[in-house]
Amino acid sequence: MRRREQAEEVLRHVQKIDALGQLTGGIAHDFNNILHVILGNLEIVERRLNVGESDARSLGRPIQFATRAAEQAAALIRKLLAFGRRQPLDPKPLDVNKLITGMSDMLHRTLGEAIDLEIVLGARLWQTLADANELENAILNLAVNSRDAMPAGGKLTIETTNSYLDETYAVTEESVQPGQYLLIAVTDTGKGMSPATIEKAFDPFFTTKEMGQGTGLGLSQVYGFIKQSGGHIKIYSEEGNGTTIKLYLPRLVASSEVVEEKVIAEGAPARGHAEVVLVVEDHTDARNLAIYGLRELGYEVIDAADGQAALRAIASRPDISLLFTDVGLPGGLDGRQLAEEARQRRPDLKVLYTTGYARNAIVHQGRLDPGVELIVKPFTHAELAARIRDVLGR
Ligand SMILES: Nc1ncnc2c1ncn2[C@@H]1O[C@H](COP(=O)(O)OP(=O)(O)OP(=O)(O)O)[C@@H](O)[C@H]1O
Ligand SMILES: [Mg+2]
Repeated sequence: MRRREQAEEVLRHVQKIDALGQLTGGIAHDFNNILHVILGNLEIVERRLNVGESDARSLGRPIQFATRAAEQAAALIRKLLAFGRRQPLDPKPLDVNKLITGMSDMLHRTLGEAIDLEIVLGARLWQTLADANELENAILNLAVNSRDAMPAGGKLTIETTNSYLDETYAVTEESVQPGQYLLIAVTDTGKGMSPATIEKAFDPFFTTKEMGQGTGLGLSQVYGFIKQSGGHIKIYSEEGNGTTIKLYLPRLVASSEVVEEKVIAEGAPARGHAEVVLVVEDHTDARNLAIYGLRELGYEVIDAADGQAALRAIASRPDISLLFTDVGLPGGLDGRQLAEEARQRRPDLKVLYTTGYARNAIVHQGRLDPGVELIVKPFTHAELAARIRDVLGR
């Protein structure tokens, strides 16, 4: 008996190392490809500049390719963080029917002509507390998987309904709390999955698609998000008979105002009106990028490389309107502590945090602390412009 337990323990360990190997291998493969594209295209720009080329088009193309590759790297990291349940979520009371209705144009475009889309919205659907962007992302991921499983066309049905997971169900499933859930079921008439595929489908980098067709991160991202949101996910599928994926999100009982989705401003980035912004960032290149971008937008910028220097700046410049600070800072004062100290002196000071990876300072139980405004790196110039205006306007 003991020997058998030991053997099982060893087996689990080996499986863990296997999974880790698959994970690191997958990351290395994808990142090296992306870096290769970025570096290669930047080299082209450099070579062209060296021979005196200054035509905007001949330089613009490789810059575009490099940018697109860098965006893919950012997306890859987001997916990995979602799987690791390390994505800082911003859950708000949600009307899921409205969210799905809002996605219908995008879904039609994604699925193409050959696939029929039917949306069946449950009546008097409960509210849930979830991150709207991530939920859209999850539904889109499922739709893309279904599209890929129906190369010759077919039908995709998205259905919402109130649902109850009872004790009997909860005991048969790993880590499910019995109770009231809102169910989103995504069903396709595609090729279906074998039991072996179902077993592995949530593993990061598990894919049955051709090299270059899928990274195998879609379902792992959905899984991580649903778990982090206190929900449950289940695959029902048979080879040749289509697939249903059920997402359960916990019912939000306290009835509260459903927040309106924020309208993302299109067009020229929102400009500043010479407000004074203090940029605190220890990474020199990132700091310079922020300074450059904010000046271009019409802000007056002061900068500091750590918390102590930032406090000195705040003491000497009472006209600072906004503190834009990295969360992780060297020198014993992190961004959160800096903001707290600064606000003792200047209670009206606005704060916008930034980070490459949200740590415990501002994220607890996977959620942003209330009232915290965060922009995650990498972000675009337009995104920064919009957030700074938004925070200054509060
Ligand atoms: N609706 C579906 N029908 C049939 N098989 C599916 C379906 N959804 C997922 N699968 C199977 O599960 C695997 C993993 O799915 P997942 O979304 O995680 O990765 P992927 O789609 O292969 O790649 P990525 O989503 O990163 O582009 C797929 O490769 C496919 O074999
Ligand atoms: Mg996928």
